[in-house]
Amino acid sequence: MDTKTKTTTIGILGYGNMGQAIVAQLQTMKASKMNIEIVIHSLGVSNVPGARCVESSIDLFEASDFVFVCVKPQDFYQLKTLTIKNAKHLIVVSIMAGVRIVNIQKVFPGAKVVRVMPNLPLQIGQGVIGWYLKKDSLTSDEQAFLEKVFSVFGLSVPLQEEKMLDALTAVSGSGPAYVFLFANALIKSARELGFSQDVAEKIVIKAITGSIAYAVSKEHPDFERLIQMVQSKGGTTEAALNTLDVENYYTEWQKAIKKAYERAQEISSHDSK
Ligand SMILES: NC(=O)c1ccc[n+]([C@@H]2O[C@H](COP(=O)([O-])OP(=O)(O)OC[C@H]3O[C@@H](n4cnc5c(N)ncnc54)[C@H](OP(=O)(O)O)[C@@H]3O)[C@@H](O)[C@H]2O)c1
Repeated sequence: MDTKTKTTTIGILGYGNMGQAIVAQLQTMKASKMNIEIVIHSLGVSNVPGARCVESSIDLFEASDFVFVCVKPQDFYQLKTLTIKNAKHLIVVSIMAGVRIVNIQKVFPGAKVVRVMPNLPLQIGQGVIGWYLKKDSLTSDEQAFLEKVFSVFGLSVPLQEEKMLDALTAVSGSGPAYVFLFANALIKSARELGFSQDVAEKIVIKAITGSIAYAVSKEHPDFERLIQMVQSKGGTTEAALNTLDVENYYTEWQKAIKKAYERAQEISSHDSK
């Protein structure tokens, strides 16, 4: 496929949270004169500005060079009934958590498959985009095209083994929920101390975004050292951290993330018939 001169057609199967986020980023690429056409098939979706909506998944697969599969795994396994006879022309980019390449190829015989694990901030071009493909499965042009797309989505992280997608799912795929949980805990605490919801949200969000911006302004942020910069002996931060029992806090997070990893592996071991 010549992705440099001809129009590249990118199909989107499933226009939900992630499908919409991907289309929003592809639209920015189109606006910056990248030669792409966006085609969408999603249940109940017939009109998306700047894209062509088609009525069936087969129409989508026939029209596309690349298809981003953005449906839930359980809906994907229903597609078995639609298995297309020859998908050799297709590059399937699956963002589904825990659906292995071997199972994707059962629905798309002969297709080239790339597995991607994005996260929610992809919506604003600030995602973590881990991806895996079997060695030499794409031409260098095809791979360069996809890497360009992923870099618009956020931080593009190539992975050497398919199973590392499960690890990435546990860390950065679910990561935004961990951050939102922490923010919510601080907001609830600020409310307890008498701040209005509005002010509590503002100060917590700025404390988080400002602290992270400060940390990344350092070349290699050393988070232990950064904590020491805020904490002084006998002070307020120390009182808070002693109450949290920091060692135990780290252990609890390790346990939680390991659980997420095991769950990702469990989902990945699902075999489509
Ligand atoms: N959300 C995240 O943060 C995140 C992060 C990483 C990876 N993912 C992966 O991204 C995928 C999509 O997640 P999501 O949160 O975007 O889900 P979602 O909001 O439910 O979006 C899926 C969309 O696909 C549509 N759909 C279902 N079956 C279909 C079919 N056969 N043909 C066409 N369209 C169909 C759904 O329509 P209906 O609503 O009418 O069923 C819905 O609009 C999942 O596989 C998930 O593992 C999500």
